[in-house]
Formats: sequence, structure tokens, C-alpha cells
Amino acid sequence: MARRKKIYEGKAKILYEGPEPGTIVQHFKDDATAFNAEKKAVIEGKGVLNNRLSEFFMTGLGQIGVPTHFIKRLNMREQLVRSVEIVPLEIIVRNYAAGTMSKRLGIEEGTQLPRPIVEYCYKDDKLGDPLVTEEHIAAFGWASQQDMDDILSLALRVNDFLSGVMLAVGIRLVDFKIEVGRVYDGDFQRLIVADEISPDSCRLWDIETGQKLDKDVFRRDLGSLTDAYTEVAQRLGVMPRNQQGVTKPTLIN
Ligand code: C5P
Repeated sequence: MARRKKIYEGKAKILYEGPEPGTIVQHFKDDATAFNAEKKAVIEGKGVLNNRLSEFFMTGLGQIGVPTHFIKRLNMREQLVRSVEIVPLEIIVRNYAAGTMSKRLGIEEGTQLPRPIVEYCYKDDKLGDPLVTEEHIAAFGWASQQDMDDILSLALRVNDFLSGVMLAVGIRLVDFKIEVGRVYDGDFQRLIVADEISPDSCRLWDIETGQKLDKDVFRRDLGSLTDAYTEVAQRLGVMPRNQQGVTKPTLIN
């Protein structure tokens, strides 16, 4: 059996060279990190859940014409995706105040925002992904004005889609993060949604109870992360109600 070529290992995923040029195998690990990897754990079942959930969201986006890197799911933990040149930005869309926005601006968590607010962070773990403005992005050449127009449009379309899908199963989409990548078609280049969309990168609150069903469960020690993600997967019909197969989180650090 030939060893696969590892291209990159991140906090929650490993990327391997794909079977054809321009493809990548994205492997979802069970590792969870928070606060720029200051807090770490292995949470059994997380990788499987995020692989399925990201497949679900990316497929849905594809069906409404939002381009993504997703090609197909390969197995429990892996999916085949298009290779892209990642734009070094984390694009955050917020519908309700929470997390760093609440802290920064002193707005109570859960306050509805007057309209969706899009923020950009520079993707650099060493710097803790600092918030940047479009001025920084333009001046340092991380993305062009055309890219920024496309990014804003992608981010808002993803927000509309995800908000609706979540609302239909009684979940409020508080905020989320996406990443986008550049693909080249001959003389043209375009941006597509890349990385993952999962409860690791969204804030999801039960509409009735306010219960958190996302990575804040891990960040803030609110209970079992797998139970929360399983609940999201079951409500969306991604996982049957009787399929549990999850064990308690094991802290490794
Ligand atoms: O921490 P903050 O409040 O800025 O996060 C906003 C949203 O972006 C949250 O849903 C969080 O999970 C997501 N995020 C992420 N990766 C980061 C930073 C934020 O997925 N590096």
C-alpha cells in the first residue's frame, strides 16, 4: 500500500494529496482546540460528525449555486475537495452579538444586530488571527477589490442559506466563519467557499432554550461536545436519531 502525501496538518484537519491533480483529501480529526490552541482535547466522534455536517452544508450551498470546494465524501472521516489557493482571511458573519464582538464592543451576548455584520481576520495562528479592516487587506494585497466584492456576496449568501436551514430545525445561527479559496479556469480566476462549515466554526443556539450546540460547549466547559454536535446532525437529518456511538470527551492536555 502506498503512503499518501500529507500536504498540511492543522488543528482539526489533515490535508492529503488527492487522487487527481487539483484535488485534495480533507481528513477530519477528533482533535478540538480553542483559544488559539491553548485548550486542547480529543473528542471521540467529532471528526465523523464534522465531515458529515460539512458535506451537508457544502452540498446544500452547491445546490443553490454557491460554489464550494466540495466534490464528494469518501468515507466516515474524509472528503474529496478541490485544491484552492486559500485567501489568508477568516470571514466572520454575525447576526447576533456573541464572543469577541460582545467583548470588544460591550454588547450583551444574544443581542440581535441591526443587520448581518461581516468582519475579516488575518489568518495567522501566531498572531491569533487579528481583526483587520479592508484597508489592511487592500494595502497588503491579501485580496483585490473585486475579491472583496465576491467575498462579501459569498458570505451573505452562505448566511442566508445557513440561517434558513438552521431556523427550520429550531436553531438560531448566531455567527459563523468561512474561508474562501481561489481557483483558476484558464485565464479566469474565481473564489469558492473552502475549508469546512461545521459547529466548530458556527455559533448555534436552540431557539427555545438558548442551549449552545456548537464549539462554545468545549470552549466554556458546558457539557458534551459530541452530544451537542449529534443533536445538530440529528435535527438536520444527517444522522438518524438512534445513531449515537459517541463516548465522553477525553482531555489530553
Ligand atoms: O471568537 P469570535 O466571536 O470572533 O468567533 C466568531 C465566529 O467565528 C464563531 O462562530 C467562531 O466559532 C468562528 N471562528 C472560527 N475560527 C476562528 C475564529 C472564529 O471558526 N479562528
